[in-house]
Amino acid sequence: MYRLRSTQQAMLPRGPTVTASDVPWPPNVAGAKGVTQMDVIEPIRKRYSVRKYLEEAVPEEKLLRIMEAARLAPSASNTQEWRFVLVTDEARREALCKAAQGQPFVREAPVVIVACAQTDQRVMSCGQCAYTIDVAIALEHIALQAAAEDLGTCWVGAFSEDEARKVIGAPDDIRIVQLMTLGVPAMGSRPKNRKELSEIVMYEQWGGSKPG
Ligand SMILES: Cc1cc2nc3c(=O)[nH]c(=O)nc-3n(C[C@H](O)[C@H](O)[C@H](O)COP(=O)(O)O)c2cc1C
Repeated sequence: MYRLRSTQQAMLPRGPTVTASDVPWPPNVAGAKGVTQMDVIEPIRKRYSVRKYLEEAVPEEKLLRIMEAARLAPSASNTQEWRFVLVTDEARREALCKAAQGQPFVREAPVVIVACAQTDQRVMSCGQCAYTIDVAIALEHIALQAAAEDLGTCWVGAFSEDEARKVIGAPDDIRIVQLMTLGVPAMGSRPKNRKELSEIVMYEQWGGSKPG
């Protein structure tokens, strides 16, 4: 299983701190004037990793809207192999916290979404496994809808799959791709630390710069 080691993490270049108000929207590109935009950027900007939660349950109707956002996600060949186990039971959250290297917010969040895949067998012709991509897209739908509902989430990839599988009683062939905590945030957002667009976008060819 691929795991980013902490030494590799330390080597990643750190981009300058960008606050939401620093970035114009729509981006300042030729022809952007008059572009009709939906407000999807709002939850994108609002979402941040919430690692402290209030002791408040997530209202059922919000939870249903959040899971509906997952249901509508795209998947390779529309196979929809994702399955989500919503864990609210305290003892089970505690066990998931242990499986997640004791990260305390996993215990404290009122809901932990255990994001699973029914099969890991499907490999696309590009060579990528479909299940991790499909589950990840659905999870980000969850995170964005949660932000739109004034709720917070945090992706959790630092966990033992075998331990998490035991906690939810899933069969051995079910893959557990990620955990995601969900609840009412008890902490504010921080400025986003992201690379500049010019560091991550190329034009036409690898390394190609913006024409004109
Ligand atoms: C696949 C994935 C796995 C992650 N795993 C963890 C984790 O185990 N624990 C944690 O505290 N944050 C985890 N994060 C959160 C990232 O650290 C966070 O998204 C990143 O630092 C950017 O901060 P932001 O989410 O506040 O914008 C994970 C994020 C992703 C996308």
